[in-house]
Amino acid sequence: MLKTLCTFVIKRGLSNVGMVCPKTMGVGDNLLHQSIWDSDPELFDLMKEEKRRQRRGLELIASENLTSLSVLQCLSSCLHNKYSEGLPGQRYYAGNEFIDKIELLCQKRSLEAFGLSPEEWGVNVQPYSGSPANLAVYTALCQPHDRIMGLDLPDGGHLTHGFMTATKRISATSIFFESFPYKVDPVSGLIDYDKLQQNARLFKPKIIIAGISCYSRCLDYERFRKIADENGAYLFSDMAHVSGLVAAGVIPSPFKYSDVVSTTTHKTLRGPRAGVIFFRKGVKSIGKDGKPIMYDLETRINNAVFPSLQGGPHNHAIAGIATAMKQAATPQFKQYQQQVVANAKRLCVGLQGLGYQIATGGTDVHQLLVNLKPCGLSGAKAEFILEEISVVCNKNTVPGDTSPQNPSGIRLGTPALTTRGFKEAEIDKVVSFIHSAVNIALEAQKISGPKLVDFKKVVTTDPTITGSVKALRKEVELFAEQFPIPGYPDY
Ligand SMILES: Cc1ncc(COP(=O)(O)O)c(C=O)c1O
Repeated sequence: MLKTLCTFVIKRGLSNVGMVCPKTMGVGDNLLHQSIWDSDPELFDLMKEEKRRQRRGLELIASENLTSLSVLQCLSSCLHNKYSEGLPGQRYYAGNEFIDKIELLCQKRSLEAFGLSPEEWGVNVQPYSGSPANLAVYTALCQPHDRIMGLDLPDGGHLTHGFMTATKRISATSIFFESFPYKVDPVSGLIDYDKLQQNARLFKPKIIIAGISCYSRCLDYERFRKIADENGAYLFSDMAHVSGLVAAGVIPSPFKYSDVVSTTTHKTLRGPRAGVIFFRKGVKSIGKDGKPIMYDLETRINNAVFPSLQGGPHNHAIAGIATAMKQAATPQFKQYQQQVVANAKRLCVGLQGLGYQIATGGTDVHQLLVNLKPCGLSGAKAEFILEEISVVCNKNTVPGDTSPQNPSGIRLGTPALTTRGFKEAEIDKVVSFIHSAVNIALEAQKISGPKLVDFKKVVTTDPTITGSVKALRKEVELFAEQFPIPGYPDY
């Protein structure tokens, strides 16, 4: 058994990932010490299939990235085993000497990555992901049913910024608090700050959220701050999508104007799947009596994360954040983020050159929103045909869409492709793949008519269409496979 394990480790080239052959084995040897490929080949085969899918496809989902080997090593390390409820130095369990050091290191690096002084900003690195981080922010700053304003979901906001329909409160933000959205201008696609200002005066929110999931322009944090100040609201910036760009200094930072900033760590930041909350510390303002008024956010945010909402921190993820934040402070990371933006701009210009309409007319960041209405193709059909040729993206509402169930666009992002080494020339190739796929889709639609089910049937069964799809998929996959993916060789 031991020999088999060692042979596999060597065969798979994994000796560099810190795996060691156990010297002794105790009770339950087979369960405890076998590698996944021996203990659960059924699951391992699926993991390998997913890796193959990632390698031979082109990932254009704007919220995804391909994290580094170091981060993956943290995620599959012994740190996963430890319970450590509480903060460093104040844990509810013993045995946290090294876990404390790791979390403190993570906090320090998180502040450094964004150029923040520990006198002015604190950070909680324990949120399990972006959604729990945001709920912790609301729990910290609001009483139940206090008011929150965020960008509307169909206009590019996130569910956690509040979402409800005429008949149902969908997001917890709208169930436990009162949410009121602000919107983009349906023609320009740009955030309508004037309307936000008018509505904030009426609604008097406790929190205004500056954050996006699908918006290709930089946010005007100064304007958000002014509107928040006018209404005595907190400005909470959710920089989940753009935090890598912010760390690299390639777009404006929200920190100067915000009270609280949250982020996921797995999107442009390219770390593990987790969340982080930054909060202001120190002097907030000077009172009428000349005495300093201090921020009181630290305890409120920390208590909201634990014990209000979460239990034991995911220490493997916290280690992953620590190493990702170290990477985020390097010149290579800055170069990477510059290329992410350059690639997004190239993708945009390439598609515009072929006549595609891009919401807001361009991009300043890592993503763009293609409006397919003028082509006569729905977002769902485009998403489907692109997946058929191994190009992965998501359908998305575009400004002015009336049905969130039938969106007219697709969102495209460049973080993952740029991690694989794509530059402008490769992005030009991606443009031509997308255009060819749209043309096949339009042919298929001529046969199928407008219904998505009929369209899917034609794409997967019509001999001419399937022939074109197959040929294009082969071309995409041969191209994609040339570009490496960080991590373990085959899973
Ligand atoms: C702006 C924004 N905030 C929060 C989240 C939630 O993150 P998670 O999916 O990790 O819960 C997302 C995810 O896409 C996001 O785009």
